[in-house]
Amino acid sequence: MSESEPAHRAAELRAMLQQHAHHYYVLDAPQIPDAEYDRLFQELEAIEAAHPELRHDDSPTQRVVGGVLDGFVAVRHAVPMLSIRTETDTEPSGAVAFDARVRRELALTEADPPIEYAAELKFDGLAMNLRYEAGVLVQAATRGDGETGEDVTQNIRTIAQIPRRLKCEPPPAVLEVRGEVYIRRDDFEALNERQRALIAEGAKNEKTFVNPRNAAAGAVRQLDPAIAAKRPLSFFAYGLGEVQGWGSDNSALPATHSGLLDALGAFGLPVSAERAVVQGAEGLVRFHAAIGARRDSLPFDIDGVVYKVNNRALQQRLGFVTREPRWAVAHKYPAQEQMTRLLGIDIQVGRTGKLTPVAKLEPVFVGGTTVSNATLHNEDEVRRKDVRVGDTVIVRRAGDVIPQVVGVVHDSAAVEASRGEPFDLYQRLSGQCPVCGSPIGREEGEVDWRCTGGLTCPAQRKEAILHFAGRRAMDIEGLGDKLVDQLVDGGLIRTLPELYTLGLAKLCALDRMGDKSAANLLAGLEASKRTTLGRFLYALGIRHIGETTAKDLARHFGNLDRIIEAAEAQLLEVNDVGPVVAHSVRSFFDQPHHREIIEQLRAVGISWQETEGVAVAAPDAIGIAGVTGRTFVLTGTLPTLTRDAAKELIEAAGGKVTGSVSKKTNYVVAGTEAGSKLDKANELGVMVLDEAGLLALLQGEMA
Ligand code: IVH
Repeated sequence: MSESEPAHRAAELRAMLQQHAHHYYVLDAPQIPDAEYDRLFQELEAIEAAHPELRHDDSPTQRVVGGVLDGFVAVRHAVPMLSIRTETDTEPSGAVAFDARVRRELALTEADPPIEYAAELKFDGLAMNLRYEAGVLVQAATRGDGETGEDVTQNIRTIAQIPRRLKCEPPPAVLEVRGEVYIRRDDFEALNERQRALIAEGAKNEKTFVNPRNAAAGAVRQLDPAIAAKRPLSFFAYGLGEVQGWGSDNSALPATHSGLLDALGAFGLPVSAERAVVQGAEGLVRFHAAIGARRDSLPFDIDGVVYKVNNRALQQRLGFVTREPRWAVAHKYPAQEQMTRLLGIDIQVGRTGKLTPVAKLEPVFVGGTTVSNATLHNEDEVRRKDVRVGDTVIVRRAGDVIPQVVGVVHDSAAVEASRGEPFDLYQRLSGQCPVCGSPIGREEGEVDWRCTGGLTCPAQRKEAILHFAGRRAMDIEGLGDKLVDQLVDGGLIRTLPELYTLGLAKLCALDRMGDKSAANLLAGLEASKRTTLGRFLYALGIRHIGETTAKDLARHFGNLDRIIEAAEAQLLEVNDVGPVVAHSVRSFFDQPHHREIIEQLRAVGISWQETEGVAVAAPDAIGIAGVTGRTFVLTGTLPTLTRDAAKELIEAAGGKVTGSVSKKTNYVVAGTEAGSKLDKANELGVMVLDEAGLLALLQGEMA
């Protein structure tokens, strides 16, 4: 580097970081992944460390960014909202280094016992200060620059999980609770689905969100609380701001951080159960590894874990360096968003013929695995994001959600000028299905192009078989995508019923198919023959018929023939069935070919229990009076059952689970952190059960 080069590069980095910080903090629409921002930031820090004369006061390294958006009232924090030092080394050594620093600060020797830490998750949302006076929520404020944030009380009041009044008698005179507002991954996917639907219907000012954190930040800083209320926000408490009168002279303040979180939990605030009190570096390393292994299965994004010295008196002794406490550190995991190059766009054919553009990427390590394909959803979305082959794109992979291209990184003007063509799906395929060559089409008002080949298209046939065999459909064990490829490509299967006429000999003749796997598959097929009407209907893969609608139809009509014969008007009488669904069901059964398949499936021995008005799981039904036909609402976290498990048990017993409490609700099953649904139940006098009560009811003890 020549002498002027570091100065030049530092100026360039300052400008880039300022621009990206504006997009991130003010517009809630980042243009590069966080990991890339961190890399640029560290590069600038390194230059400034080597050349202190280049360190300007306005450098992003010298100040906390974030500001007050027009339209919000500024709130000066009684106690500044600090940030924590981030350990970017994602290896165990990051935890070891933190423990060593803390021990050094406290002048401990090897002879001293290990330090006790509170280990918790680093939630990937945005920091919030909730101020309770005399136990009542009076203000909610964003972090802003740490000294001054924005008053977002109206929006935060729409979060059902956040209590308006603390469960605590007598309450502290002032208690500021700090924590993270975030959006669960399933809520985020559903929100983006809804946004995509709105856009498809022609809504102008709508967009999809890049990731849950940006969606949360956007919702919190919505000027219209009615819009904020429609965004599915959640909250976890992790610390304190100002405290007055928690016991005389705050004498009731717990002595440890873990004790503090327990107390906040008891006050009715959501506190994550994913936390532990651990001893020394070894305990930290184990926590980091244990959470790392489960990161994908958590219902929300985390970008790391946080370690805090547990004893609050020790925290005070350690104090702060500049704006960061010495007693806490964030220890990262590999980023869930990365940049890479878009090499091409393939088009995949789905079960219903839907043509989905799939990004072919230069392989990139993201969210813990190497990704080389990512969905682009549909043609409109590719155009809206203006994604073109050759672009640098941001890829997100979080949890078990399929990787997605969330945006384009705009390069220098020179690169911009030589970009590829805008994506045109029809032109790309010359109007033909890439698998079977049938014409492709798009119905009026639809965003998706489809292959018109139906089940004559091998791609659709494969997807239809995989859907039919799926865990929530016929649940055929041993029938995976490799095998389905072989069966369809080898011409062994053309229709669903043919699955059940495969013999051992035919199966064993397949490549890499041993006697044992063939026998297992046959056993899996045999076992799948007894099912429920709901599952069977869902397995047929009728467009727009998800699991819940299939169950509703089964329950409403009680037997298949009535559904097959039902007119659209009758279908419309079913709960949650609208014109699109009714039309789809009617046109499916209007096709003689589909009726024939159903007859053949019956002929090969598939059966389901059909009862008047109620479809009950045949093999393992635990249906009893008291549950059958009753409506349940689940709220909060149950001690042992997941929501899915509770739902499955209730449905297996003939009950129904809905999302909101009304006069028609028979039971509300409430766990910890139950919110407004519980209030509503009490208001309407609906019976409230805990998990034990539910299990007792299911076992007939309360019937
Ligand atoms: S403690 C003085 N604990 O990470 C300590 N922060 O720089 C203050 N965050 O934006 C923070 N999970 O919103 C703490 N369990 C956790 C956290 C957490 C996420 C965020 C916080 C802030 C950043 C800290």
